[in-house]
Amino acid sequence: MSDVLVLEGPSTLGGTIPIAGAKNAALPCMVAALLTPDPVELEGVPPVQDVFTLRELLMSLGVDVRVDGSRWTLQAERLTSTTVPPDLARRMRASFLTLGPLGVRFGSAEVVYPGGCAIGERPVDLHLAGLEALGFTVDSGGARVRIQARRLRGAVFEFAKVTVTGTEHLMMTAAAISGTTVLRNCAREPEVVQLAEFLRQMGADIEGAGTAQIVVRGSSSLRGTAIRIIPDRIEAGTYAVAAVLTRGRVVLRGARAEHLTTLMECLAGQGATVQTTTEGIVVDARAVTDFRPLRVVTEPYPGFPTDLQAQMMTLMTQAPGVSEVVETIFPDRFNHVAELRRMGAHIELAKPVARVYGPTPLRGTVVAASDLRASACLVLAGLIARGTTVITNVHHLDRGYVRVEEKLRRVGATICRIERVSGSRSRVPGEGEGTIGNLPLG
Ligand code: UD1
Repeated sequence: MSDVLVLEGPSTLGGTIPIAGAKNAALPCMVAALLTPDPVELEGVPPVQDVFTLRELLMSLGVDVRVDGSRWTLQAERLTSTTVPPDLARRMRASFLTLGPLGVRFGSAEVVYPGGCAIGERPVDLHLAGLEALGFTVDSGGARVRIQARRLRGAVFEFAKVTVTGTEHLMMTAAAISGTTVLRNCAREPEVVQLAEFLRQMGADIEGAGTAQIVVRGSSSLRGTAIRIIPDRIEAGTYAVAAVLTRGRVVLRGARAEHLTTLMECLAGQGATVQTTTEGIVVDARAVTDFRPLRVVTEPYPGFPTDLQAQMMTLMTQAPGVSEVVETIFPDRFNHVAELRRMGAHIELAKPVARVYGPTPLRGTVVAASDLRASACLVLAGLIARGTTVITNVHHLDRGYVRVEEKLRRVGATICRIERVSGSRSRVPGEGEGTIGNLPLG
């Protein structure tokens, strides 16, 4: 049974929010530990569920994982298995990244096919085509994928579509194969750049990360190293939108503006001021009177991130006129639309386009989180909705955000978490029988 978040709105945010290390940077770096028998050290690992799931998965293969606060040390000296347990693999897509590294170091590997998920179809065909190009035989029949190292060699591979984990998967696999690999049409996300830096420190020669072409000169004897995980640009972006939406002022401590250029341009277009200081990014929307309609087209980095689309849609509900989201990465990623409508939003959906007619006042009600970023969009909606918003299925949010309720409460939101333990609810401030405030619990 999943926890519940309860928000009382509307509120105006003011204060400092510390930004955690990026989940999407930590995950591939954790997997890269499989490439060497030496210990690797990661500083700034965020305590989020996806990271814990991957820890469990790596430990089940025999990786030694030591956790000292946000400093994690992983060592894959001896492995006990190269078959990823299906139940763990199915819980997160990043589990698929283990395939190449296990295959290159231990000769073979097996993982269940991750399949689709809550945000729609998410194929892995490009990962597999790339592994074949590097010299693996790939058996992808049925529910699982098995690879076997045949004659591993550097290769030239062009991604038919820009893929973040696809780029990371092939880059880290090629890093451990002697020879030169040229990857074309690569993802340019900061998380790819961080992984390249990590692999370089481990002994691979990598050029071009952050551009569309990455050249990897691999090494069969990668070594241990240490790296600090970059700040989470999606967490920072989520709170930046929250600051503007509530017409507040928030300091995003540790965030990097250069990772969020397109979002910050959008927010500046709403009349907010965005400044970079030594502390991080300061988003000040106290002088914003009316929001303006806007159009967001999601694109690979440095375009507008699909992971911030849902949060922007909450802002769009407050802008007079017609705003639009065009989702070019995951055309089905619109789970949040139905829930926003339940709160009073007027949204027309013709995938991959959502048209938002505003402004519409939002009202608190019971809504269900359905995936990670859709959950964040509902939290933002709860900040400005009149009355009580109850968000169920909070485990989706916990996959990628660190202590949302704590961070938001510190900057002025009225929000609490109700921990629901095996059918019962606990720590419910002022809860009546079966209700929170005047709302029935769904
Ligand atoms: C990563 C991020 C996720 C983000 C997404 C897009 C992690 C752990 N997750 O997911 O938060 O929303 O990037 O920025 O970093 N595709 C194929 N074939 C493949 C692989 C991908 O067709 O083999 C397609 C996908 O269906 C999608 C597009 O490529 O349309 C981009 O997906 P991709 O970049 O691979 O997303 P993820 O890496 O899974």
